Amino acid sequence: MARCFVTRELPGTALGRLRAEHEVEVWVGPLAPPRQVLLEGAAAADGLLPLLTDAVDAELLEAAHELRAISNYAVGTDNVDLAAATARGIPVGNTPDVLTDSTADLAIALMLAISRRIVEGERVVRAGEWRTWGPSFMLGRDLQGSTVGIIGAGRIGEAVARRLRGFDCELVFARRGERDSLDRLLAESDFVSVHAPLTSETRGLIAEAELRAMKPTAYLVNTARGPIVEQPALARALSEGWIAGAALDVTDPEPLPADDPLLEAPNLIVVPHVGSATHRTREAMADLAVDNLLAGLAGRRMPHCANPEVYARD
Ligand code: DGY
Repeated sequence: MARCFVTRELPGTALGRLRAEHEVEVWVGPLAPPRQVLLEGAAAADGLLPLLTDAVDAELLEAAHELRAISNYAVGTDNVDLAAATARGIPVGNTPDVLTDSTADLAIALMLAISRRIVEGERVVRAGEWRTWGPSFMLGRDLQGSTVGIIGAGRIGEAVARRLRGFDCELVFARRGERDSLDRLLAESDFVSVHAPLTSETRGLIAEAELRAMKPTAYLVNTARGPIVEQPALARALSEGWIAGAALDVTDPEPLPADDPLLEAPNLIVVPHVGSATHRTREAMADLAVDNLLAGLAGRRMPHCANPEVYARD
């Protein structure tokens, strides 16, 4: 029986399966465990099941002498020092596929919400500011038939593309590492939707030059990771009208402090990192995370491993 540290209660029945085989400690606070709790939990564990809010870095890995398996409750693994885990031979699981559709749905919802001014309209109605139906009142722009640039054509980017074909959109993809294709995407798109993982290559990918290269009528949607977009530049882009609007499911940091200048910017929708937040998806993520951890602890190959090179070494 191995010792597992799980950094939050998970929805569904998955943790029951873990408890049936192993000794499981779950951090039950409403917020992420404080750093010291995380370090101590990991140091005493053979298996760690963290969330994307938990930094599994070199310091933690160094102190966690018994750790044999890490299973991240997310598809993204930017919170885990993969190189350090790999160097120690620890497999790191993640949860792809099961959240693709929920996240793609949210990206489409954000495109529609920002371009059809849904949040703004709701505020206007509640504030009693809607006086009458009018031909030029609250005009937005159509997603239907528009050109959408997809940055990051992985599972989620492809799922977004599939949905957009139903809106008769023209799709433009940026090829990884090819500046020309990104420039073309930025110049031509009515919507730019970000679906790339956060890596050293994509951090700050959308900065001032990229925002200035977009059409003044275009919208930016980010459901990937906050640091891919440089937020001070985005705040200026919105305030100075370089682009028409932005809809973000992710920010840097999360949550944004209430006095963050970005929140002062016009034509901005921000939601609290809810791309995968449906009952079905979050339960499926829990199942996959537990499957990964059980496999890792049993010395079997994890069904979804973000550093498969640990197996190649065997
Ligand atoms: C992930 O899994 O990486 C998402 O951002 C949260 O579901």
